[in-house]
Amino acid sequence: MSSDEKTMNQRTPAIAASGETDSLTALMDHIVETHHAFCRRELPRLETLLKTAADVHGRRYPEIRRIHALFSRMSKDLAMHLLKEEETLFPYIAQVEDCVRRNIPASWPRFGTMESPVRLLVEDHDQTENELRAIRHLSNNFTPPSGTAEDVADFSELFEALSAFERNMQQHIHAENNLLFPRAVALEAEACARK
Ligand SMILES: [Fe+2]
Ligand SMILES: [Fe+2]
Repeated sequence: MSSDEKTMNQRTPAIAASGETDSLTALMDHIVETHHAFCRRELPRLETLLKTAADVHGRRYPEIRRIHALFSRMSKDLAMHLLKEEETLFPYIAQVEDCVRRNIPASWPRFGTMESPVRLLVEDHDQTENELRAIRHLSNNFTPPSGTAEDVADFSELFEALSAFERNMQQHIHAENNLLFPRAVALEAEACARK
């Protein structure tokens, strides 16, 4: 396993522990309030920092232009991804959980069972992980290129922010892929079995 893959596979025990026992609604609230809010705050800020870095340093350090282009595309895709979760799947999961708790039948969603939307969201996650890996690789593991002290300071701030973004996305994806989605699919199956 490469060092990149090791980093991508890091887990957060505190979230894992509560994610296995909290209600799904509480877990989704945590994901939206912590990770979706972080994305919405950091995506435009990083986009601006990267654009400035590409404009100022792009000639001498062309990788920063490629990182900027990659991040811009990832940022647009992520904005759509968050909306898909918040407007479609998460409300349905909350509804299924509520019906199971009250022991009443869950109404059938427009998209059939949740397996298909969950699969598509996991594919989005795979793509995001690949893009983050590519950014890490292009930045030489977030190592500022040599240059003036001012250049190094610019890149240090930017790469620290990108590295923090990558860590937060790893926790975010872990919470959904390994905690929320499997529990939600199992709960839906339980709700269907009660019909
Ligand atoms: Fe999410
Ligand atoms: Fe997601």
